[in-house]
Amino acid sequence: MKPKILVARAVFPETLDYLSQHFEVESNQADTVWSKAELTARLRDKDGAFTTGSDRIDAEVLAACPKLKICANMAVGYNNFDLEAMTARGVLGTNTPDVLTETTADFGFALLMATARRMAESEHYLRAGQWTKWSYDMFAGSDIHGATLGILGMGRIGQGIARRGALGFGMNVIYHNRSRLDAATEAECKARYVSKEELLKTADHLVLVLPYSAASHHTIGAAELAQMKPTATLVNIARGGIVDDAALALALRDKRIAAAGLDVFEGEPKVHPGLLTVPNVVLTPHIASSSVPTRKAMAKLAADNLIEFFSKRRALTPLNSQVLAQT
Ligand code: GLV
Repeated sequence: MKPKILVARAVFPETLDYLSQHFEVESNQADTVWSKAELTARLRDKDGAFTTGSDRIDAEVLAACPKLKICANMAVGYNNFDLEAMTARGVLGTNTPDVLTETTADFGFALLMATARRMAESEHYLRAGQWTKWSYDMFAGSDIHGATLGILGMGRIGQGIARRGALGFGMNVIYHNRSRLDAATEAECKARYVSKEELLKTADHLVLVLPYSAASHHTIGAAELAQMKPTATLVNIARGGIVDDAALALALRDKRIAAAGLDVFEGEPKVHPGLLTVPNVVLTPHIASSSVPTRKAMAKLAADNLIEFFSKRRALTPLNSQVLAQT
């Protein structure tokens, strides 16, 4: 008998076809966002789950689903998993690193450029029919080439952004991370390690690429925003909750920093109302990894993790591989 899996959100039809060759699949091509109770009810008789970042798998869900053995997230971030609770119950978690690195770094850089050069604001102005004449300082923004690029969180995506900044735009790249990179990687990215304080004070453009956890909650709040240059831009492609969005909305309103580019939000898909009313912010709906080839590669990797697990009791990108060692 084929193992039973739940695909919690809509996916590419080819992904469903692929999964159906190996599993008895319950899918959600209507893409309904299920409540926790509904997700739990549907997971109760399943051996595995294909999840996305919006499907919370916690101790309560796990307790109600004793057959569940693996949750394969179609995302590199996995703060929707209570990994400790999963490990305690012998449930494997997997994610989709690497396949999205370059696409996400492209987007982070694009968002930085759109923010610094005021692309969204000026486009709205044009569409609204307000463009009637040339003006010497019309939507004058800040430069990217030659500026100081600060990166907070220097994993694979952070390194991709550093390379783009240093090699493509001649930026002076500084970074802060929980642990310092080895000298060879620093040299490859042309990035210099600095304290968080120096990063905040000296970056012309600050990009956030660190994972979300209780420890990184509100890493950037009012106090940190106050340390930044008034001409600085802030870009968040990491996770909602890393920035205190209410504090950021006030800082943007009062021009305590110049502008922000945000792909992720606290409590998304809701967006803090203060961010919707300030002009100096570029807002995108959590799409940094969303190119067609990359989303297909993420879906394939998540599916392959399920297939590997049920056929060979291993996984390509496990998060808590100690579970695999358990009998
Ligand atoms: C997207 O946010 C991801 O974690 O892949």
